[in-house]
Amino acid sequence: MDFRMSIASEIASALEKAFNDTSLTPESIAQMMEVPPDTAMGDYAFPCFRLAKVLRKAPPMIADALKAAIDAPFLKEVQSVKGYLNFFINRATYAAEILRAVREQGENYGGGNEGEGKTICLDYSSINIAKRFHIGHLSTTMIGNALYRMYSFLGYKCVGINHLGDYGTQFGKMIAAYKLWGKKEEIEQGGVDAMVSLYVKFDQEAQKDESLNDLGRAWFKKIEDGDEEALEIFNWFKSVTLKDAERVYNMLGVKFDSYAGESFYIDKMAPVLDELREKNLLVESDGAQMVDLKDYNMPPCLLLRSDGASLYHTRDLAAAFYRKNTYDFEKCLYVVAYQQDLHFKQLFKVIELMGHDWVKGMEHVSFGMISYEGQALSTRKGHVVYLDDLLTRAVEKARAIMDEKSPDLEDKDAAAKVVGIGSVIFFVLYNNRIKDIDFSWDRALNFDGETGPYVQYTHARSCSVLRKAGECDAQPDYEALSGVDAQNVIRILEQFPATVREAVDRNEPSMVTRYSVGLAQAFNKFYYESRILDDDMAARAAKLELTRAARQTIATALNLIGVEAPERM
Ligand code: ARG
Repeated sequence: MDFRMSIASEIASALEKAFNDTSLTPESIAQMMEVPPDTAMGDYAFPCFRLAKVLRKAPPMIADALKAAIDAPFLKEVQSVKGYLNFFINRATYAAEILRAVREQGENYGGGNEGEGKTICLDYSSINIAKRFHIGHLSTTMIGNALYRMYSFLGYKCVGINHLGDYGTQFGKMIAAYKLWGKKEEIEQGGVDAMVSLYVKFDQEAQKDESLNDLGRAWFKKIEDGDEEALEIFNWFKSVTLKDAERVYNMLGVKFDSYAGESFYIDKMAPVLDELREKNLLVESDGAQMVDLKDYNMPPCLLLRSDGASLYHTRDLAAAFYRKNTYDFEKCLYVVAYQQDLHFKQLFKVIELMGHDWVKGMEHVSFGMISYEGQALSTRKGHVVYLDDLLTRAVEKARAIMDEKSPDLEDKDAAAKVVGIGSVIFFVLYNNRIKDIDFSWDRALNFDGETGPYVQYTHARSCSVLRKAGECDAQPDYEALSGVDAQNVIRILEQFPATVREAVDRNEPSMVTRYSVGLAQAFNKFYYESRILDDDMAARAAKLELTRAARQTIATALNLIGVEAPERM
């Protein structure tokens, strides 16, 4: 039963009865309805102020008249207070209805199939070849992963794309360096670090010997021309980088459907450039080709350098067309830091000028910067934090906390992994994505704060209650759930489906993260204030059902943001 809609229909017919007014539909009334901050003020409220103008009557008077015209058995009481209509629903009925929905839908509660038949392309993580995976790529990886899970939960088909940064003159230099000084075993063993050292050496030597740069350019040209040796070395660099990254992705539980990176589009740019030319959108300036965006207050979108080389934009443009043609996406999301705001604005504008209205489905899901314990990250100053180090440390720290808090826990290693890594993911997804974040161990791992461990602990606690309770086959008495604490949990459970949808609409995983905290807090309050293992078996059955529903929904919410829910910790 959808109480909001049912009450809205009651209000609509009361309006008709009392005032002969049919200007508001139940849907628009439902939108105007509020949820009072405190259940003591009712479960739903309807403000009558906007009606005052139309009906030419004072709001308290309207509320009184509507109250008199409403009579519905599912409502225990209706109050008219200072221009508000406050509705108190029959709490036992309410509890039974919501809990039934969670019980019947289980892990699908909150999900849906409105996305069926629609495809969402998600471009996230998108790391660069021959660079270490550092915490600057944590947000894109985890926001993208969460969005992937959230859209899938609503029935969309998702295509996760790791748009690898695998194109550029630096790769020519790396091959040159490898040919001059590199050893296969060193790279095989040292991975990305060994490649980075080679590159650094090349740069140093090139300052003494200019001709090295020519050599680098020559190797880059060979990659572009598809030279066998060049490609072989380059693809090997790529697989070494991806092997390193794969380790991190496994720790984080992140997957992709495609690793088509920038170089994948080299042979797919020409048709797009032709179309731009045909549509008279390309202008030449000093031998370079670009789309003029003066009219839109943006710098030109440069697509070909005077030497004919392509740019980051050119590859992204080709990728957009490729994705549209291959996946026929409903939406194509780019989870990329706000430093690239302009890049995507230009890209979308160019596609719009080409006359393709599918550009409406493209969106830059922008996010803020991350710093570490108060220090900005900078590759140049050597202040970088590598993701695998961060995650390893998170697991160690979680392990130490558990040794202290739950010395008797059986598989502490497994739990420490789930909690340590979960704490990092949760932290990154806790705030509005556009906000800058400062990673802090104390805040991420605080078991009493608004953190992953706190929510995970609540989940484990509910599992433990259910284990202790064992079977209870009494018929539940939902009157036992009419207290404020139980009602708050139920109300939050009711809001889960709407929360998921709003989070998807805004591409904002933090709404689900925060939801999980709110639910955990409400459940903990209920846990402390009421004896779940009640002597009255009918009351116990109802409280256990509430516990099961809370456990399920916490697990689902955590799962949506890519955090595991441990049964013991
Ligand atoms: N590799 C880029 C970086 O690390 C991000 C690529 C984002 N995706 C895209 N289609 N441009 O900054």
